Amino acid sequence: MQQRKLGRTGPQVSALGLGCMGMSGMYGAAERAESIATIHAALEAGVTLLDTGDFYGMGHNELLIAEALKGRPRDRVVISVKFGAQRDPAGGWIGFDARPAAMKTALAYSLVRLGVDHIDIYRPARLDPAVPIEETVGAMAEMVKAGMIRHIGLSEVGSETLRRAAAVHPITDLQIEYSLISRGIEDAVLPTCRALGIGITAYGALSRGLLSGHYRPAGAGDFRAHSPRFQGENLARNLALVEALAAVAKARGLTVAQAALAWVAAQGQDIVTLAGARRRDQLAETLGAFEAALAPADIAAIEAAVPKGSAAGERYAAAQMAHLDSEKG
Ligand SMILES: NC(=O)c1ccc[n+]([C@@H]2O[C@H](COP(=O)([O-])OP(=O)(O)OC[C@H]3O[C@@H](n4cnc5c(N)ncnc54)[C@H](OP(=O)(O)O)[C@@H]3O)[C@@H](O)[C@H]2O)c1
Repeated sequence: MQQRKLGRTGPQVSALGLGCMGMSGMYGAAERAESIATIHAALEAGVTLLDTGDFYGMGHNELLIAEALKGRPRDRVVISVKFGAQRDPAGGWIGFDARPAAMKTALAYSLVRLGVDHIDIYRPARLDPAVPIEETVGAMAEMVKAGMIRHIGLSEVGSETLRRAAAVHPITDLQIEYSLISRGIEDAVLPTCRALGIGITAYGALSRGLLSGHYRPAGAGDFRAHSPRFQGENLARNLALVEALAAVAKARGLTVAQAALAWVAAQGQDIVTLAGARRRDQLAETLGAFEAALAPADIAAIEAAVPKGSAAGERYAAAQMAHLDSEKG
């Protein structure tokens, strides 16, 4: 497994990180034993970065990871945790809180659920519009000093927030959606990260399965049931892009998912791809993408099949798009 350094100040991690969100309900039901077997298979294949959020299944995802890591050396894995999203007992989304006291409380609970004495990369999942980023990051810097957090990351924020945050404490990486059909970061956010020495952990590289070549309609409780790209005419147009990608992939001995993942991985040494495999068969396919080295002609052919800006529909529903500081560029 290739290694990449996360930003100027961050740790060295595998070029592929395992995103564990889908193992805790965000994409419908997941099978616990298979989820744990997938985490184990990823670690055995050399994956060293695991990504979670305290709100994925309201603690379920952290407890799952703790179980998967039981008995394994703590220093072999880099754990990235997001906080801030507020949920009610029924799983409803009820706001966002990145005030210092809320962050410290969330951190205390995450440490217990994960069964660890520190978190490697800790980050607010979104910008809290009610709290200056300097306050959130300033309080996180106290937690770095106290040894509870090793590194500070951010998620889905734009250039101005990145600059303000980096002036308070080094920022290791920005977690943000990046795929063949979500290339908005290339215009401003990615250049800002590069100027500031901030790495990227790219999520949604398969656009939540849309670019996987294994499309199936979403069931109840699945994020995709409400995602604009998976609705009606948008879906038909997006699946036509997938067909075009499939032809290019096949000619190169790759699956659609592998072409989409390899394209993200080829966008820079400062980019670590988070893949949301939640079964071992998906992981095996994902790992294949990291054995493929795309030549410039392959990248050009992939981009011709799925041109920048060709996706139909936004990456989130309108209400969620409004919370994305990153969309300001
Ligand atoms: N910071 C943020 O705002 C944010 C937002 C979202 C995610 N994330 C993080 O990023 C991680 C990855 O994001 P994601 O899960 O949305 O992205 P993704 O990798 O684009 O999509 C994962 C989904 O793709 C489907 N899939 C089909 N074939 C696959 C294959 N061969 N390999 C892998 N997946 C395949 C699976 O769908 P089925 O369910 O149909 O099996 C899986 O649930 C998450 O787990 C989470 O840790 C962060």
